[in-house]
Amino acid sequence: MTLEEEIGALKARHKALILAHNYTRPEIQDIADFVGDSLELSRKAAECHAPVIIFCGVRFMAETAKTLSPESIVLHPNPHSGCPMADMASPEAVAEYRKKHPGTLVVAYVNTTAATKTEVDICCTSGNAEKLIAGLPADRKILFLPDANLGANLNNKLGRKMDLWPGCCPTHNKILPEHVTAAKEKHPSALVLVHPECTPTVVALADRALSTGGMLKFVRESEHKEFIIGTECGILHRMRKENPVKQFYPLEPAVVCPNMKKITSEDVLFALRDLAPRIELDEEMRRKAKAPIDRMLEVLP
Ligand code: 13P
Ligand code: SF4
Repeated sequence: MTLEEEIGALKARHKALILAHNYTRPEIQDIADFVGDSLELSRKAAECHAPVIIFCGVRFMAETAKTLSPESIVLHPNPHSGCPMADMASPEAVAEYRKKHPGTLVVAYVNTTAATKTEVDICCTSGNAEKLIAGLPADRKILFLPDANLGANLNNKLGRKMDLWPGCCPTHNKILPEHVTAAKEKHPSALVLVHPECTPTVVALADRALSTGGMLKFVRESEHKEFIIGTECGILHRMRKENPVKQFYPLEPAVVCPNMKKITSEDVLFALRDLAPRIELDEEMRRKAKAPIDRMLEVLP
């Protein structure tokens, strides 16, 4: 039996569902039942009711799946796959901020740990942040955490003055304005799409700033034939597979999230064989962490 066949047999035995983020390795995307961005994966986890979910993505995403689907066994095939940006806002530091700024609405990018989500009012993802923040009262003081780049891009787009937590994605921060200029010179007919975790200077040079799901939709529907892609290179696999006649150029080939790449097919096989490692959350913490995610899903179902 091939590795894929073994995974398929175990998957059927446990009635398991494999969810994978758009940045995972191509072979993981190919064995997944569903590949998507953070928002799509959260929705899927909330509605799938699978007895076993194998979550191929970084830890906060698997925690979100467990938070929304507590009755499922949620397996995170490589427990070392974390998101450094999510770790930049600890629950203690956020609680401290709240104490000093009573009345400030705390909006957390979904890239936060479950423990930190217990200290925030509402979550958003890169796929819904603009709509969600545009709908908040204009006179309300807001803290946006933990991504200062995404927060600054939202402030610029919406004319808001949210306080920004000093966090960032080390992977997207590697994309520099000179990379955009050079890529445009090399591929003058291509549209430049970047992720809003890039710096505001990079976003200003791009044609669109979109979530990973937003980029996939955009390239599918666009009449353009060439695109320069400014995000983690794992997304190119799906783009090329879904759009065989279009051309995709990575804005900068070094844009790799090492954590997303930690999950291998062997990890998935062992996780299914052993039904471990599991995401386990303290029930009180899970309930508290669920509230801001529920608010997000209620506002923008
Ligand atoms: P998306 O929600 O756009 O998939 O982004 C998640 C992420 O971690 C980007 O670095
Ligand atoms: Fe975290 Fe950045 Fe990796 Fe996304 S790309 S999971 S924000 S480190």
